[in-house]
Amino acid sequence: MMHDKNTIITLAGLNLALSYENAGVDRLEKRSSESIDPEVKERLDRHLAQTKEQQARLRETIKSLGGEPITEMGRLPIPEPPQSLKAMIESGSTPNESEVWESLNDLIIEKAETIMYKGGIQALELLEADKKAIKNLEKNLKEEEAFANWLEKNNPRIAKRLMTKQLEEKKKKQKREESVTASTTG
Ligand SMILES: [Fe+2]
Repeated sequence: MMHDKNTIITLAGLNLALSYENAGVDRLEKRSSESIDPEVKERLDRHLAQTKEQQARLRETIKSLGGEPITEMGRLPIPEPPQSLKAMIESGSTPNESEVWESLNDLIIEKAETIMYKGGIQALELLEADKKAIKNLEKNLKEEEAFANWLEKNNPRIAKRLMTKQLEEKKKKQKREESVTASTTG
């Protein structure tokens, strides 16, 4: 099929979005399998299912415009600490601390997705691109916004719960050790 220039750009934009969703599925599957918090895990699973629907929506739109859906993954924006701190963060963190850390990365990623979709939608509007393509990007944007908002609102509460739990467990462990010492010396 011959494509005009606008269709080529539209298809490139849709495939770019799809490449980030491909990476999103990969990241969410990994996060869900490693998450130690049932509430977080449930939300990640829910967004994983949504992300798969987003992929399907993008693939369908790409095909309807005569394009080939991309299978490659784009790179999601996760901040990269300097080497000297990275080793400390990775080896020195408890599972609870890692969960808090990664939930911040989840928020960064979902916020970035909303920014990319907004830019993409505006670009397609300026190109007077296919209406259905724009509609589908808007659907994806709504879901990204909803999850980003949920994370932004709930991350602090979950972080507090995880850190309180960690502190309580530490105190309990200390008490146990104290009573063992007391019973062996007393
Ligand atoms: Fe997302």
